[in-house]
Amino acid sequence: VSSVFDFSANLFPLSSTAGGGGYAPIGAPISAARPNGGLGGGSLEKHKTLTYLNGLSLIVGLIIGSGIFSSPGQVSAKIGSPGAALVVWVIAGILAWTGAASYAELGGAIPLNGGAQVYLAKTFGELSGFLFTWVAMLVLKPGSSAIIAIIMGEYLVRAFIGPDAETISPWFSKGVALVGVAMVTFLNCVSTRVGTRVNDTLMFMKFVALLGVTVTGVVVAITGKTWKGKADDGWKSHAWFENTSTDMSAWALALYAGLWAFDGWDNTNYVVGEFRNPSRDLPRVIHTAMPLVILSYVLANVAYFLVLPFDSMGGSNTVAVMFGSQVFGPTGSLILALIVSASCFGALNSSTFTSSRLAYVAGKEGYIPTIFGTLGVGNNEDQGLSTQRTRGWFSKKMRRMFGDEDTGLFYTPVYALILNSVLTAAYCVVGEFSTLVTFYGVAGYTFYFLTVLGLIVLRVREPELERPYKTWLTTPIIFCCVSLFLLSRAVFAQPIQTLTVVIFVVAGVPVYFWRIHGRDDVVTRSARRTPGSEKKWWQFWK
Ligand code: ARG
Repeated sequence: VSSVFDFSANLFPLSSTAGGGGYAPIGAPISAARPNGGLGGGSLEKHKTLTYLNGLSLIVGLIIGSGIFSSPGQVSAKIGSPGAALVVWVIAGILAWTGAASYAELGGAIPLNGGAQVYLAKTFGELSGFLFTWVAMLVLKPGSSAIIAIIMGEYLVRAFIGPDAETISPWFSKGVALVGVAMVTFLNCVSTRVGTRVNDTLMFMKFVALLGVTVTGVVVAITGKTWKGKADDGWKSHAWFENTSTDMSAWALALYAGLWAFDGWDNTNYVVGEFRNPSRDLPRVIHTAMPLVILSYVLANVAYFLVLPFDSMGGSNTVAVMFGSQVFGPTGSLILALIVSASCFGALNSSTFTSSRLAYVAGKEGYIPTIFGTLGVGNNEDQGLSTQRTRGWFSKKMRRMFGDEDTGLFYTPVYALILNSVLTAAYCVVGEFSTLVTFYGVAGYTFYFLTVLGLIVLRVREPELERPYKTWLTTPIIFCCVSLFLLSRAVFAQPIQTLTVVIFVVAGVPVYFWRIHGRDDVVTRSARRTPGSEKKWWQFWK
């Protein structure tokens, strides 16, 4: 059985000579971008390998990460009551679902790799597509890596220091997060394969953990027993909706925290071009994955509430550890801490993988200095220099270990990886989980909103466009209304973060006019040259 995460290896082109004949859109499969295997060769066809089940495990594996183990504390702290917290989780889940359903329609109508970048470029022009890539590279990717790293740090510190972890300096766990970022970066510099294998195992583990939490919670509630003997029955007297916040901004912030756990629902859209039957399978994947995730998250939350006193949850990022120690004592908390940090490590690894490809393509296309678009360590072919293999036993061993035997080279976008890790480290240093989650949410939902708005625009502007899958029109409308509410509230609730996002977006505009505007060879334009699909939609580009 091949690794589901192998597909992520196809997310972005790895070669410097993006597809001799055509230009690779961001998200073109690696081999499609290789010299002579360019898009013109129809190699995209060969890579239509994804099936329904592949898509399902891909998206579920990406969505279930750090969030369900860390966000519940933030949601509870902001919203004030367990009942309302559950409502927030349901709303967040449904919002993600409507977003994903809208993206499914877009993915069917525009069956290309690249996700929002392609849809935005088609609806609102190249500038918007560029700005998405720009913000994804500078904010979304490193920001999400930083959040995951921070959670990993907090859980690891918890695992090894125990309950006293609360009292020690937060810099301790930040330090652990930074070490994690460095490790993952190093791993990605020497190999593109090793980590993806690990991830398969981790995904299975995450499922088991989540299921375990739910079952445990229910068992505790029914039997009234924990390791201490008697469970804390506080929840029975829970006033489920007492103290619910009436402040709309608090609801928005709680929603951002919940949405973080559901984030990643757009990820199958990056590889639409590789589905065997995108118009049938993409909607099916989404309408199976989303309800599944929503259900398991709500159940996990119910389990948390059944076991933990509500007040103790508020604001904690390590709810899963509290849960483990409540039910199974110190051993339980240790085991859960290790599981969650391993899960975060895996998420950090795949996130680093895709982020570096994004920065790499951006460099290659001249969005940012071209050094970031070159491959490093032992491979100089790109620069037209001769290739020299390092001969020591260590490098031989590494090559064998990391499976680069065929080329004998470390073939990785080292500079892009370094750029990404520097940005990630910066976010780790300046941010906390709760502030970063809002920051990430504001940036992310700005573009989700615009993309889904684009769906409505396209329905009006191009009613004749072939849409193999159509959602109800209410779906994108609901999504747009709720995300507009979220964005408008963020302005009041977290003005600094919102302003920072605006600055990042605006900073991209001069860069666009400086490096991209008027060029005819850039990624965003070349997307229209994908063979086989020209007839369907390239004429809409003008
Ligand atoms: N939902 C994931 C989590 O709970 C985060 C997803 C990060 N975003 C992404 N596009 N990969 O950790």
